[in-house]
Amino acid sequence: MKPPFFPLPSGRAALVPSVLAADFVCLKRSLAPIKKLADWVQVDVMDGHFVPNLSFGPGIVAAAASASSLPVDAHLMVEEPGRFIDAFAAAGAGLITVHAEAKLAGACVKKIKALGLRAGLALRPGTPLKRVLPHLEELDLILIMTVEPGFGGQAFMPEMLGKVKAARALIAKSGRGIWLQADGGINALTAEAAALSGADSLVIGSALFSSRNPAAFLRALKKKI
Ligand code: DX5
Repeated sequence: MKPPFFPLPSGRAALVPSVLAADFVCLKRSLAPIKKLADWVQVDVMDGHFVPNLSFGPGIVAAAASASSLPVDAHLMVEEPGRFIDAFAAAGAGLITVHAEAKLAGACVKKIKALGLRAGLALRPGTPLKRVLPHLEELDLILIMTVEPGFGGQAFMPEMLGKVKAARALIAKSGRGIWLQADGGINALTAEAAALSGADSLVIGSALFSSRNPAAFLRALKKKI
């Protein structure tokens, strides 16, 4: 199956709802109202080892794709992502992000690319940006965690804005069209700060799905970023 193309919008950061904060009883109820406003959706996969939480398996990819009619980005917060890449690719994820701190992260990036998908590398807040350097030639996306991975609804870590800025400069220097994603505690205020720092993809969970009108939230956000 040809992986879905991720449309990077021109002139603004991509808005990427995180399914972690959606209504698991009925994903359609959460995602259908915003499917024309979001650029793609992200599924946060957690294994209870790499992070102290458990979330979904590959089945969530098809569910999120069907509920949103959008491409799906799988953020693997798992100790051994190499064990799951084939399953998430087969489930239809078009972009798979592994953590630089996970086992065999470099080999996983190569495997994701070999499958014809977009490959992302994520950094915990405490992991230095230089950990992406060995993989720059292969990466399609760098994910800067702006919270400690594991749970939605946490407060944005403003000290990560410097890392976003440095990542933007690194990408510019590399001359490659690598996307820069900020993930964690993104709301109307922090979205603007992250975009101004150079993020061109913003993962939004609790601020979006806890808002009274998620569609209005995204429409307003688009005007700001
Ligand atoms: C943390 C998750 C969250 C999620 C976004 O491991 O990766 O960052 O996607 O959740 P909010 O927007 O609620 O911080």
